[in-house]
Amino acid sequence: MNRRRQIYEGKAKILYEGPEPGTIVQYFKDDATAGNGAKKGTIIGKGVMNNRISEYLMMKIANIGIPTHFLRRLNMREQLVKAVEIIPLEIVVRNVAAGSIVKRLGLQEGTRLPRPLVEYYLKNDELNDPLVLEDYITAFNWATVNEMDEIVSYALRINDFLTGLFLGIGIQLIDFKLEFGRFWKDEDIQIILADEISPDNCRFWDIESGEKLDKDRFRRDLGKVEEAYQEIARRLKILPEANIEVLKNKEGVESI
Ligand code: TMP
Repeated sequence: MNRRRQIYEGKAKILYEGPEPGTIVQYFKDDATAGNGAKKGTIIGKGVMNNRISEYLMMKIANIGIPTHFLRRLNMREQLVKAVEIIPLEIVVRNVAAGSIVKRLGLQEGTRLPRPLVEYYLKNDELNDPLVLEDYITAFNWATVNEMDEIVSYALRINDFLTGLFLGIGIQLIDFKLEFGRFWKDEDIQIILADEISPDNCRFWDIESGEKLDKDRFRRDLGKVEEAYQEIARRLKILPEANIEVLKNKEGVESI
């Protein structure tokens, strides 16, 4: 794994310098954390699933005209993406009350929200990723007013699109987190979707049973964690041949 210069290691991914200028290799790990690193574990095959799930969703999102960083899959655990300057915000869109909004506002988990809500969190582990206001974002130059308008518009379009896509496979999209970056295209700066979209950063509930099919199974010790990631990939028809022995391969960087 030392064949390329490592740029950054996060909780779930490692970034390496890409083969061409302006590109980055995203390596998806099986490591899982919750509560800002307080709980640590391994979800076997998660990296392989998330590589494929994120590729699939990013390509679908690109098809509706929203630019993304995804370029191409390299192997089971790696994808090539455009290098961007990450905007230091986590953009959360919520359709149904779950997770932190339940605690913050004393809502009942599962309550449909009056309309999709968009929240911003500052990406700062030391501060525990605090919820921030748009006024903070512009005052501290984390992003401009125009950038935020574009980000919110993209986030809501992605929400509408993904809500429909997942309804089609019997899943309710409860909430999800997005990250955006700045990409220099000729003289212009373009806002593009970055990071990943996977069961690590979305809440997916089965429509019929209400069963959770996302990282909450790990966060809340609900069991059948690996199975939940595989079920999402299976319903999206992107890993019909999922073979647990292959997924156990920790390196998994051979070409496929
Ligand atoms: P929350 O309810 O914990 O605020 O999470 C909302 C959504 O954002 C949920 O789908 C999980 C995702 N998320 C991340 O991907 N990374 C994070 O650091 C947090 C706090 C949430």
